[in-house]
Amino acid sequence: MSDAVLNQFTQAVEEENKIDASKKLKVGIIGTGWIAEAHIESYKQMPDVEIVAGADLIPGKAEKFFKKYGVEGVRCYPDHKAMLDAEELDAVSVCTYNATHAECTIYALEKGVNVLLEKPMCVTTEEAVEIMRAEKKSGKILSIGFQPRLDNNMKMVKQIVQSGELGQIYYIQTGGGRRRGIPNSTFIEKKTAGIGALGDIGCYSLDMVLNAIGYPKPLTVSGYKSNYFGTNPLYNNPKDAARFDVDDFAAAFIRLEGDIVLDFRIAWAMHVDTPGDTIIMGTKGALRIPSTDCWNGSIGGPMTIYHDMAGNHVETKIPMCSNPPCGLFYQKIRSFLDAVKEGGKAPVPTSQILYNQAILDGIVKSAECGREIEIQIPEI
Ligand SMILES: NC(=O)c1ccc[n+]([C@@H]2O[C@H](COP(=O)([O-])OP(=O)(O)OC[C@H]3O[C@@H](n4cnc5c(N)ncnc54)[C@H](O)[C@@H]3O)[C@@H](O)[C@H]2O)c1
Repeated sequence: MSDAVLNQFTQAVEEENKIDASKKLKVGIIGTGWIAEAHIESYKQMPDVEIVAGADLIPGKAEKFFKKYGVEGVRCYPDHKAMLDAEELDAVSVCTYNATHAECTIYALEKGVNVLLEKPMCVTTEEAVEIMRAEKKSGKILSIGFQPRLDNNMKMVKQIVQSGELGQIYYIQTGGGRRRGIPNSTFIEKKTAGIGALGDIGCYSLDMVLNAIGYPKPLTVSGYKSNYFGTNPLYNNPKDAARFDVDDFAAAFIRLEGDIVLDFRIAWAMHVDTPGDTIIMGTKGALRIPSTDCWNGSIGGPMTIYHDMAGNHVETKIPMCSNPPCGLFYQKIRSFLDAVKEGGKAPVPTSQILYNQAILDGIVKSAECGREIEIQIPEI
C-alpha cells in the first residue's frame, strides 16, 4: 500500500451549520406514497420548515399520511394543480411516480415554487428539456433527489478522479444488480413508472461515475433492454407479472465527449450474484469500486486504486468513510432548503442530470430500434 497516495484521500471533517429558524419555509409534498415518508421524516426535524400542504391522486391518502406522521393542520388536495393553485409555497417535494414528475415540476415552477424532484428526473429527454425550460423561465431552484452522491464514499470517488491520480479517464464499466430484487406497486408499469430498473437504480450507477468525471456530454448509445424475470410468474408474483411492462435488465455502450466510453448494465433480477464491480480506467491508474448484492446506490466495500510505482504494480486500498448520523436524505433536503434560503445553486443541478436522463432514454430508444443512436438534446 502506498501511504503517499492514501494520505491524499482522507475524509474531510464536516462542520454542522446552525439552522436559522427566524423565517419558516412553507413546504408542500406532492405524492404521499412510500418515498414521501423519507421526506416528511426529514422535514419534521427542521426547525425552519412548516409543512402546510399535501396532494395525492388517491382520495384520502394525503390526509392519512399526515395523520400518521402527526403533522396537524396540513391542507390536503386531490392533485398537484389544486394544491399549487390554492397555496403560496416556498418549496415542494415532488414525490410522485416517474410518469408525473414532469407535469408536477413544470406546474410548480410556473407557480414560482422551488422544487426538490425525486429521481429519476423524469422519463424522456424531451420531458427533461421541458422541465429545464420551465426552470430557466422561473428563476427558481430545482434540485434532483440523488442522495447517494452525498455519501462520503461517493464523494471520495470524485475526489480520487479529480486528483489526477488515475490520469486521463478513457473507459468506465458501471452498473449494478440484484439476483432478485424486483419492486412492485407503481414501479412496474409504463403508465406510472415509464421505465423500470433503468430509472429506479440505473440512474444511480450513472450518477456515481458521471459526477466523478464532471458529467461529460453523452454522444451515442447502443442499448439493450429486456424483462424476462418481471413478466415471469416463476420469478415474480403472478399478479405483478401479468401487468409488468417495463425493463428489468438493460445494458449499453455509451460514447461520451472527451473520448471516454461507458459500459453499463443494470438488473432488478438475474441468474448471477453481480453484473460486476464499477471500474474507472485512466492512463495512470484505475479505480475499482466493489458492487453490492442489492444495488441501491451505495458502495459495497473499500475501493482499490491500481497503479505503478517505480516499475512495480501497486494497489492502494481506500478505507470506507463514515457518514453523519443525520442520514443522506436529511442532507439532501437540507442542502436544497439552504439553497432556497440563501439564493444559492441547486445542489444536484438539472444541467448534469439532463445527461443522465438522456442516457436512460437513449438506451430505451436504441433498444427499441435495435441499433446505435446519436443522443440529440434540443436547445434549452
Ligand atoms: N431517492 C430515493 O431513494 C428513492 C427511493 C424510492 C423511490 N424514489 C422515487 O420516488 C418516486 C415515488 O416513489 P414511491 O415509491 O413513493 O411511489 P408511490 O407509488 O408509493 O407514490 C407515488 C404517489 O404519487 C401520487 N401521485 C402521482 N401523480 C400525482 C399528482 N399529479 N398529484 C398528486 N399525487 C400524485 C400517487 O397517487 C402515489 O400515491 C419515484 O420517482 C421513485 O423513483 C426515490
